[in-house]
Amino acid sequence: MQKLKIAVIGTGNISNVHIKAYLKNPSVELYAFCDIDEEKLKAQGAQYGVTRLYTDEEAMLRELPEIDAVSVCTWNSAHAPCTILALRYGKHVLCEKPMAMNATEARAMIDASKKYGKKLMVGFVRRFGNDAAITKDFIEAGNLGEIYYAKTTYLRRNGCPGGWFGDKSRSGGGPLIDLGVHVIDLARYLMGGPTPVSVYGATFNCIGERKYLRDKAAYSIRGKDEDPFTVEDMATALIRFDNGAVLSVEASFNLHIKKDTGTIELFGSKGGAKLSPEFELYTEMNDYLVDVNLNMPSALSFEGLFENEINYYVDSILSDRDLSSIAEDGCTLMKILDAIYLSASEKKEILIK
Ligand SMILES: NC(=O)c1ccc[n+]([C@@H]2O[C@H](COP(=O)([O-])OP(=O)(O)OC[C@H]3O[C@@H](n4cnc5c(N)ncnc54)[C@H](O)[C@@H]3O)[C@@H](O)[C@H]2O)c1
Repeated sequence: MQKLKIAVIGTGNISNVHIKAYLKNPSVELYAFCDIDEEKLKAQGAQYGVTRLYTDEEAMLRELPEIDAVSVCTWNSAHAPCTILALRYGKHVLCEKPMAMNATEARAMIDASKKYGKKLMVGFVRRFGNDAAITKDFIEAGNLGEIYYAKTTYLRRNGCPGGWFGDKSRSGGGPLIDLGVHVIDLARYLMGGPTPVSVYGATFNCIGERKYLRDKAAYSIRGKDEDPFTVEDMATALIRFDNGAVLSVEASFNLHIKKDTGTIELFGSKGGAKLSPEFELYTEMNDYLVDVNLNMPSALSFEGLFENEINYYVDSILSDRDLSSIAEDGCTLMKILDAIYLSASEKKEILIK
């Protein structure tokens, strides 16, 4: 069988995990790379032995019509243009999260996928984690009952990656669009994908990027001193769904907390579940309160995580599995984020239509 020819657009940090996962998949051939940063492009080409290197995505797509599918791993503002272009050239697309800068762009990406008859997937990698699979097993067996509330956090004490992440024109926002996306999507996915109807959100920039700390080891991640910081440093929101359920989210690059934390908690009529540090279920049995722990590791493992996502994408192309619900979820997520940012600026609840 002929292998799928894969191109990667945007050869920065996250491209490494896409590339390594493609290299492990026997059904694909890593075929071409594109990045507007020629130095980075050449370095990645040399590292992975890819010789078809382009600094212009349209030139690559035009000159290499044999490409079957792409991964879009650029900064956020290039997601929609690169995705729509690749779809127009007849390629399937796996686009990194967040899907786009806003819901209008996300909708245009879905429209292009339909118009050109090519698949579009969003890289919601947390859905492919072992912790998500375990939690889903318990939810599907009815152990939580009706999930009516979920609480998520993705909080860093000192952790803006700098570069484009702090530049609103290229990122679309700060920790909400960068980190919040992961936990909002995973919680909503585990809740069965309810439709959001309104949000109340707030964003802050009270600490800023805090680049002056004497202890450089205090940063979980840090940009350069000259990098811009035009995004929020913290965001919080309550998202209400059509089934009455509510999801709370908190995300920060910088916040006065003891240590970085990431949590997903689900509360249902029959039980509650916490995904980290290990999966735990809180419920009742014989009129006693019981806590259930697994007799196996259940903390999120990065081992095989991106491989699961990439293999799902490749299998979907090869097997004709429909990916449109994931793209729709990406667009729904952008609607939620748009509404949170609007709510924060207008200081009132925003209805989502
Ligand atoms: N799934 C995850 O857990 C995860 C983790 C990190 C980053 N990401 C996402 O991956 C994307 C990239 O993040 P990163 O950390 O790799 O950033 P990065 O800055 O390391 O890499 C982005 C690359 O995109 C290139 N680029 C920008 N516009 C381009 C264009 N039009 N054509 C070709 N190349 C272009 C840049 O030159 C840069 O090399 C972001 O959307 C980010 O949110 C996802």
